[in-house]
Amino acid sequence: MTKVLVVDDTPDMVRLIRKVVEDQGHDVLEADNGPAALAIVAAERPDVILLDVMMPGMDGIEVLRRLKSDDRFRPIPVILVTANGEDRDVIDGLDRGAHDYVTKPFKREILAARVRSAARSKEDHDRLLEVNRQLQAEIAERERMQRELARAQKLEAIGRLAAGIAHEINTPAQYLGDNTRFLQEAFGDVDRLLGSFERLLEAAKQGTLTDELVNEVDRAVRDADLDYLTAEVPKAIGQSLEGIEHVASIVRAMKEFSHPGSGHKTAVDLNRAIQSTLTVSRGEWKYVADLVTDFDPDLPLVPCLPGDFNQVILNLVVNAAHAIADVVGDAPTGKGTLTVHTRRDGDWAEIRVEDTGTGIPEGIRDNVFDHFFTTKEVGKGTGQGLAIAHAIVVKKHGGTITFDTEVGKGTTFIVRLPVNDPTQPEEAERPGAAAGVSSSADPPISFPLGAGHSHGLGG
Ligand SMILES: Nc1ncnc2c1ncn2[C@@H]1O[C@H](COP(=O)(O)OP(=O)(O)OP(=O)(O)O)[C@@H](O)[C@H]1O
Ligand SMILES: [Mg+2]
Repeated sequence: MTKVLVVDDTPDMVRLIRKVVEDQGHDVLEADNGPAALAIVAAERPDVILLDVMMPGMDGIEVLRRLKSDDRFRPIPVILVTANGEDRDVIDGLDRGAHDYVTKPFKREILAARVRSAARSKEDHDRLLEVNRQLQAEIAERERMQRELARAQKLEAIGRLAAGIAHEINTPAQYLGDNTRFLQEAFGDVDRLLGSFERLLEAAKQGTLTDELVNEVDRAVRDADLDYLTAEVPKAIGQSLEGIEHVASIVRAMKEFSHPGSGHKTAVDLNRAIQSTLTVSRGEWKYVADLVTDFDPDLPLVPCLPGDFNQVILNLVVNAAHAIADVVGDAPTGKGTLTVHTRRDGDWAEIRVEDTGTGIPEGIRDNVFDHFFTTKEVGKGTGQGLAIAHAIVVKKHGGTITFDTEVGKGTTFIVRLPVNDPTQPEEAERPGAAAGVSSSADPPISFPLGAGHSHGLGG
């Protein structure tokens, strides 16, 4: 039911208007002065207001001004009710946002038609508002799902890495076991040898040294193969320490890679983050590629969401490994090369992930950043890697991600991140890697529909 507020200080006029409005099937609210009208508007939210211009105290124009300066009431259509000869007020009122006007005395049908028109306009407005609200809800839901997808993709990637990491840790674990057993046996030999020497020493002290005892010690030295032990024991210890350091470095890299992140940007040592990602993902590339890293030692700390940044690099590295695997296959004809460069370019930190893989065919270059675009078989790819990388680099960091590619030669993905966070007005503090550069207004992830990249080698 449409609610119409009639504001007029003349009771007869109110009665007249009430009749017309009620005949239209609308509800009527009444106010006989400006402040009362404003109070009713706030409490009842009428759909249409019929507003007398000439009132003692606060006049209609002032009431209109207050209504139009309040976001809550601005959409309510106001019809000014004016006396003949108040043209200035009509013009002023329309300029201030009145929907329409009627001049007293008016024909009932004209007033009725104007109220109907205003009510329709309010209905249209309310409908639009509702559609807009639904759209907003849908966008929020979509963004939530995209965040979920990104999280799921990361978890899936970590799951896949787990097998490789287990293997990486298993190899040193095995030879650490072998070496420790060897040291245990060697110590048994040395212990027996020490026993013989003790008896020899004791006999020497007592003056009871015999040829037999000397021969026994001689035999023990030969049995223990002392030369062999002196050569091999230090080697076994050295190798074991190396193995432990290797395991420790993998564990360190895992901790850094799986950095849960605070949701805030942190000043990140990109070289170190990339190195960690390469370490945890070794199982993905080591069988098909030799790794070359070309890191700029002067790269400044860059404000980043570390977990998200790692996810980008991992996605690019896994893609590069897959593209190289498609070229070298299982054939032991030699591996391809995976090269990761970093450098500073003015206000940008640039990371290049370069492979000697298949290259990206011309026909699909515009699609690779699309969500769910994949050329890989089920189980190997779901087509989310680059869409997520794009969203993280562009939306969350204000960076760019592009590629150069040539079929038969390889592909280079180029990620550029601003050295100074564009979402932060002031220069970030950089006392050390742990320094926080927070960005509370983190834009939600959304995915590109088309391509935002260049391609073509040398192009
Ligand atoms: N370095 C590359 N060399 C050649 N083709 C590539 C390379 N990177 C991506 N592509 C192509 O782009 C497609 C989309 O890549 P994207 O990383 O988005 O998905 P995916 O690798 O197929 O699956 P996911 O990353 O979700 O496991 C790939 O299927 C592949 O065809
Ligand atoms: Mg991928």
